[in-house]
Amino acid sequence: MVIAIDGPAGSGKSTVAKLLAEWLGYLYVDTGAMYRALTWKALKEKTDLKDEDALTSLSRQTEILLKEEKGKLRVFVDGKEVTEAIRGESVTNNAFYIARAPSVRAELVKQQRRMAKENNLVMEGRDIGTVVFPKAKLKVYLDASLKERARRRFLELKEKGIKTDLEVIKKQLQARDKEDKGRKVAPLKIAKEAFVIDSTKMKIEEEVDLILRKWREKYGATKSGT
Ligand code: DC
Repeated sequence: MVIAIDGPAGSGKSTVAKLLAEWLGYLYVDTGAMYRALTWKALKEKTDLKDEDALTSLSRQTEILLKEEKGKLRVFVDGKEVTEAIRGESVTNNAFYIARAPSVRAELVKQQRRMAKENNLVMEGRDIGTVVFPKAKLKVYLDASLKERARRRFLELKEKGIKTDLEVIKKQLQARDKEDKGRKVAPLKIAKEAFVIDSTKMKIEEEVDLILRKWREKYGATKSGT
């Protein structure tokens, strides 16, 4: 059983996917964390980010582990914890190099498909419903206006004590949208038969509720996912 959630940066995918997974007792998989983890390692090893062959071999030699503990996702690269490090600005700004390399994506997609062999999943990213699991039981495309996504990101950073500028965040999100939607391989787009939610004016609980309702409508699923 896979629930695929895609959408642009800052649309609230992670929060919604995490809650959904918790509710259904499914494994939560943040595929963006995998792209970030590889970016972190490439930066650390000073791999040429424009050299696809080098990135491909890096991806084959890297062990990425996603571990969920008490509702918090922990990320490890070759045994080293990088949970916080992969959220930094340099990783965020360079992840598109990893994301646009077809053979690197192929490697990560293989790993993502493997996860579904042993678990029921709520998996979020940019290409889950279009490429990774086009036959997912439920596909969701979560969107929100640029203004609202920027506002959410601004508040999130403020809560962490990080001072930023709303306009700067808006520009960064716009740039990331362009990268995600414009790349040749696995661009961000609405998957066939996806349930599209515009969360601009919605609360998180309403979004989760809506998705759960859709899930039940389709499969009569209960908390255990049966
Ligand atoms: O969701 P995020 O911001 O953590 O994603 C980090 C980067 O990985 C971002 O550049 C988009 C990319 N990504 C992707 O191309 N495909 C996915 N399935 C998930 C993320």
